[in-house]
Amino acid sequence: MCGIVGIIGGEPVAPLLVDALKRLEYRGYDSAGVATLEDGLLARRRAEGKLVNLEQRLKDDPLDGKIGIGHTRWATHGVPNETNAHPHFSDDVAVVHNGIIENFSELRTELKADGYSFASQTDTEVIAHLVSREIKSGKSPVDAALSAIRRLEGAYALALMFTQEDDLIVGARNGPPLAVGHGEGSMYLGSDAIALAPFTNVITYLEDGDRAVLTSSSLVIYDADGQMVERAQQKSVGTAFLVDKGNHRHFMEKEIHEQPEVISHTLAHYLDFAAGTSNAIDMPFSFADVDRLAISACGTAYYAAHIAKYWFERFARLPVDVDIASEFRYREMPLSKDSIALFVSQSGETADTLASLRYCRSQGVRVGSIVNVRDSTIARESDVVFPTLAGPEIGVASTKAFTCQLSVLAALAVRAARERGKITAEEENQLVRQLSEAPRFANQVLKLEEQIEKISRELAQVRHVLYLGRDTNFPLAMEGALKLKEISYIHAEGYAAGELKHGPIALIDEQMPVIVIAPFDRIFEKTISNMQEVAARGGRIILITDERGAAKTDMDTLETIVVPDVPEIIAPIIHALPVQLLAYFTAVHMGTDVDQPRNLAKSVTVE
Ligand code: F6R
Repeated sequence: MCGIVGIIGGEPVAPLLVDALKRLEYRGYDSAGVATLEDGLLARRRAEGKLVNLEQRLKDDPLDGKIGIGHTRWATHGVPNETNAHPHFSDDVAVVHNGIIENFSELRTELKADGYSFASQTDTEVIAHLVSREIKSGKSPVDAALSAIRRLEGAYALALMFTQEDDLIVGARNGPPLAVGHGEGSMYLGSDAIALAPFTNVITYLEDGDRAVLTSSSLVIYDADGQMVERAQQKSVGTAFLVDKGNHRHFMEKEIHEQPEVISHTLAHYLDFAAGTSNAIDMPFSFADVDRLAISACGTAYYAAHIAKYWFERFARLPVDVDIASEFRYREMPLSKDSIALFVSQSGETADTLASLRYCRSQGVRVGSIVNVRDSTIARESDVVFPTLAGPEIGVASTKAFTCQLSVLAALAVRAARERGKITAEEENQLVRQLSEAPRFANQVLKLEEQIEKISRELAQVRHVLYLGRDTNFPLAMEGALKLKEISYIHAEGYAAGELKHGPIALIDEQMPVIVIAPFDRIFEKTISNMQEVAARGGRIILITDERGAAKTDMDTLETIVVPDVPEIIAPIIHALPVQLLAYFTAVHMGTDVDQPRNLAKSVTVE
């Protein structure tokens, strides 16, 4: 992960670098640093922890240079301390890097034998020394950088700056994204266009293997074969304003509350509510011609895909393979030309999801993506993009992106059912009407906040929690467990309720809260039986159900959260909200950093 930025400007760049880094903090916040040229010499300020620490350092000890590079880190090699914070220097060279240099160990040994000593534990420092060694051998900074980069194996987006070169930054991309921004007498380099949005919206996206030579008035790009190439300039849609929390304590809370609105926008994009049809967007293929869907994604997006498997198979009778992208990319799944591969990603930059997409492309399979960031690499490399209209999601724990992903997938499942002749026009009409009710029900569920907040005080006292569900509530149970563990650091597991007796039931005792997600659906009774098994062993049950479900069970629970009765197709969307709120309030009671939990980053651009 990590975010990088470089600026050649006509004014002191340190505040601009920090501004850009604030927009990149979603990529990591273990440490941050900037370097500028002060009277032709490299100078840097670095700080462990979040950007505010770096801001304070710069306040105490400012930098005035008009060219600079900056970095916000998600640690891979070396602990998150100031010594390992970027930029890294070697004599006349400074570097910032996002990615992993896989042959760093071999390069380090070689450089050490050549007399170089290493100040940090990072893989990145080898880049600075390699370039420096090339400069010492008589090469110009640009030639030195280009030949050093040829030695690197692995994934990298990087920016290099040189002593006495106040109008030169060299960038390179192999894997993680990198964008160049064109200003008036200034030039910018950044991990994404959003980082550059305050300065310019004229963007050139570098392609994989590209190296870029930037001055204040020129951009020269070489491809992986060293050929000079032209890359188009585009107008970015990134907003120049930083999104704020409004009246909310945390972005996560704000984003949970935005769900009725963003689900509504998203559904309205895909569904024609007036006509009651699911074909509101043009598509380059018909599901009638598709024999299989392969969906892959990571984390929360994977759970959205997993829920969608039930919908596509049930409504459209379309077989779906659903995979965690880090597994899919290496499992060499055979794919027919009549398959469609779908990739679900909020950021559109997740390394494993992107690699899976590229695998499918290499197999000649048509590729669609469900993404929230429209300018992202995954979106740009897809044959068809299905946007989620969630708006910027800042909290590291995904909430509104998840329910918007579900909204897109549900709408596509209905469309697939219709195109494949598995439902009639009337049935399509009814499903579209039911989907249109999701925002209203989501709003009602938000009113349960007070009760959920009280329950979460109990959860904040425990160390382990089990989530159970069947059918679409099984992936939702896993999503609930993920949400809880990532922001409250409480260990949690999500299980298919029917699997309980095959092992996890051994965990149940009087200490163990078990959260059962059981709306009154076709297998409600089965889930309730599993709940009885928990109760018989003293487990403390928190039941999330609907009004019909609550009326049908007289079991003693620790708490029952009752959401409105909703149609089956929107149940996972609606039940996601109490699950998110439970995690959110538990984390608040635990006093953790809700929006930027430890060890995590919003966008995962390394394997
Ligand atoms: C969990 C969470 C992560 C992401 C995962 C994929 O709350 O946010 O599990 O869902 O890292 O990220 P995207 O959707 O950007 O590909």
